[in-house]
Amino acid sequence: MKKVISVVGARPNYMKVAPIHRSFQKYKDRIKHLICHTGQHYDVNMSKIFFEELELPQPEFYLGVGSGSHAEQTAKIMIEFEKVLLNEKPDLVIVVGDVNSTIACSLVAVKLGIKVAHVEAGLRSFDRTMPEEINRLLTDQIADYLFVTEKSGLENLKNEGIADEKIFFVGNTMIDSLVYYLPKIEMSQILNELNLKEKEYVVITLHRPSNVDNPENLIKIFEQFRKIADKYKIVFPIHPRTKKTIQSTNFHYNHINFLLIDPVGYISFIKLVKNSIAVITDSGGIQEETTFLKIPCLTLRENTERPITVELGTNKLIGTKYDKIAEEFFNYLNSPKYDSNIPPLWDGKAAERITAKLVELLN
Ligand code: UD1
Ligand code: UDP
Repeated sequence: MKKVISVVGARPNYMKVAPIHRSFQKYKDRIKHLICHTGQHYDVNMSKIFFEELELPQPEFYLGVGSGSHAEQTAKIMIEFEKVLLNEKPDLVIVVGDVNSTIACSLVAVKLGIKVAHVEAGLRSFDRTMPEEINRLLTDQIADYLFVTEKSGLENLKNEGIADEKIFFVGNTMIDSLVYYLPKIEMSQILNELNLKEKEYVVITLHRPSNVDNPENLIKIFEQFRKIADKYKIVFPIHPRTKKTIQSTNFHYNHINFLLIDPVGYISFIKLVKNSIAVITDSGGIQEETTFLKIPCLTLRENTERPITVELGTNKLIGTKYDKIAEEFFNYLNSPKYDSNIPPLWDGKAAERITAKLVELLN
């Protein structure tokens, strides 16, 4: 029996690990799959709600590290995760995405001689001011098996000198969750609860430090959202990082059409996105989900590590000229729609490919 530990830490991790956990159940006689939650995110609606909705079992290991500076958070995760690995001696650690938990746990594992698989490898924004870009680059350099979601990832890993035999193009486990939960998402009552009508509102999320940490910038952004709210209802589940900044100002975002709510669970959130007229975001994963759902997505960033969503999907980078957000938004909505396509292998079966390959590699 081989032992595998998958790491989750922050909101975008749960929906990537859930299908992997489900797929491993087919190999129960050969693989013991355990989950470690670092506790990087800890609010109920940034953590627990996802375990319930995505039917993840309680994590076997909860490190409870919480928030802190990059060094503090990364270091705490490393210290606690090392104890888990020394006790458990797994054959493999699986990390997903690009958060601090991803690099911290990878580094601990490789130094103990434990194999590491990175799911969502190879994505690059080529912007090293993003903490995630550093996490991606370093994790891919030290991981043993790299599972790639889109073709840009293959090119990036090749250019960085990663050996071909470590790289597997498998598709996107975040889309696996979306496909799997679509029937449950359809049943969600969130539109009624928030008094929203199909295609009559815009969904907004924001949490990148470059957009939300500076109060003046954030106020400029909110002023643009108020202009959009003159025309459309807005529903904005606000990330705790963004909430902290806006609460530090005296800005009044009150507007009859501007619905600022706490972050919502996965099922409600995708229901909101699927029935919206458009999404404005700086999230990584939401660029992919809107591509799959064919919902117009305006990304408040100068670059993206997910270029396939711009090439094939509905994603448009509108940059960070904050005083142009409303103008860009109305232009995009009024421009003729083009056909979008779903990227190769975003078919709901990525986790099956990953687990089949790992079972082969481990046995
Ligand atoms: C993290 C990831 C980012 C990812 C995002 C997803 C890193 C470096 N960043 O950013 O890549 O896109 O998660 O949401 O790993 N907070 C709470 N409650 C929580 C969690 C956070 O109040 O449950 C607040 C704290 O004030 C904390 C701040 O949010 O200091 C930032 O949290 P942190 O995990 O450091 O980074 P995120 O901005 O959430
Ligand atoms: N999400 C959610 N509730 C929300 C906002 C986002 O369930 O209120 C989901 C979203 O559907 C996607 C994931 O969280 O699956 C993306 O996480 P986030 O934007 O925090 O991180 P990023 O992808 O930017 O790293």
